[in-house]
Amino acid sequence: MKRIKIFDTTLRDGEQSPGVNLITEEKLAIAKQLARLKVDVIEAGFPIASPGDFAAVKAIAEVVRDVEIAGLARSNQKDIDRAWEALKGAENPRLHVFIATSPIHMKYKLKMTEDEVLERAVFAVKHARQYTPNIEFSPEDGSRSKPEFLYRLFKEVIKAGATVLNIPDTVGYATPGEFGNLIKGIKENVSNINQAEISVHCHNDLGLAVANSLAALENGAEQVEVAVNGIGERAGNTALEEIIMALATRKDYYNLAVNQDTTQIMRLSRMVANLTGMDIQANKAIVGKNAFAHEAGIHQDGVIKERTTYEIMDAKSIGLNENSLVLGKHSGRHALRDFVEKSGYELSEEKFEDLFREFKKLADKKKKLKPMDIEALINNEIHAIDTIYELDYVSVSTGNTVLPTATIRIKKEDDILEKAACSGDGPIDAIFQAINEVLDFDNIKLISYKIDAITEGTDALGEVVVKLEIDDKTYIGHSAQTDITYASTLSYLEAINRYMSTNRK
Ligand code: KIV
Ligand code: ZN
Repeated sequence: MKRIKIFDTTLRDGEQSPGVNLITEEKLAIAKQLARLKVDVIEAGFPIASPGDFAAVKAIAEVVRDVEIAGLARSNQKDIDRAWEALKGAENPRLHVFIATSPIHMKYKLKMTEDEVLERAVFAVKHARQYTPNIEFSPEDGSRSKPEFLYRLFKEVIKAGATVLNIPDTVGYATPGEFGNLIKGIKENVSNINQAEISVHCHNDLGLAVANSLAALENGAEQVEVAVNGIGERAGNTALEEIIMALATRKDYYNLAVNQDTTQIMRLSRMVANLTGMDIQANKAIVGKNAFAHEAGIHQDGVIKERTTYEIMDAKSIGLNENSLVLGKHSGRHALRDFVEKSGYELSEEKFEDLFREFKKLADKKKKLKPMDIEALINNEIHAIDTIYELDYVSVSTGNTVLPTATIRIKKEDDILEKAACSGDGPIDAIFQAINEVLDFDNIKLISYKIDAITEGTDALGEVVVKLEIDDKTYIGHSAQTDITYASTLSYLEAINRYMSTNRK
């Protein structure tokens, strides 16, 4: 059976989702979990885009093994040199170069002719080839490009040394029939195509990314580019979990093999949702909260009698409903460490000790801890970035007959900054106003504030995610605590700390 390669771009195209801004430590955690799932290629970032992107690609390239690591570059020398600088420590690095090829992009964006684009693409591939034989080339807006131009271009970039040709449906415009035919046409009309693999990269603007990718695979594509939970530019990219489970579940139809450990899907999906702050809709295929829930009595009855009456996949195959060790107040470091490792996270000794302290505090308050509770505490540690401003004290008074008021004390190294009695529309507003005043910030806009109970029960952890806009950029803060005013304070401060550490570098 022919094997399909899974190329994951969560850390590059996925990170281009509006408002998502991951730090290196968070990207490393995701990359390691992607490696556990055994994806074939991880696109770790776009190194020229920012110093943060460069640092993350470099860190992933140097640490994550047994998987190819790709970095994106436009078709110019500076981008490619920078991408290689970040990638060169990888066990198996891949340079991914691209240039737009559709009439609309060439005319308005690049202001270049077909011949000029072809010449630049060939130059870029040759330049990249000096560094590594593993070169992927993408004609941006490929699905809206003239097929004849793509045939001519592909022939030349293969001659120049490209080993993977990736066809993007950049704006999510294609339909499955059309996209499948485009791949078929490329196979039939590019004389040296057998010297390269065909890949596809689809966007979901019309909700067709997965269908288009599958149509391409049916027509001979060998690699599919995906992002966890389908995140990415605008409506996102082809969802990793949907492609892998479609190929695995309908092997009888597609007759294509994938090599991934599907039992890691749920953990990866939760990790990405937590770290990016991008929720998963309840009815999302495979990883949504309702994906394996049966509401109708007839369905419930059927599943009890025989699971396959209404379930086409076993929840266990994606890592749901695993018998996980229950942790409680008597559990020690060993059991907690085991849980952390099995969940796919790695924490420094210092962070593990912080986690252990928080775990004990929570176990004292809650009788039964669920895996999701502990994952939320782990995420507090993973998120914890350089603490420039540290919360020392927060107190809030509120009620239906009093003016909501907050008092706050924040430490910055040896300085104590304090604000007594700042009022607001409600307790959270009062806290946020107090922080703004203590830190003397008047340029913060609260874009969104989200609160969710991690599990059922009134003693559940409340997870708060705030998005702040500061100087035209978005910063996410996150915290899960049993006290939601405390969680709100910490998440707001974390977003400010993220702004501070990003802008200090
Ligand atoms: O959507 C797109 O065209 C891309 C390319 C850079 C592959 O992300
Ligand atoms: Zn894309």
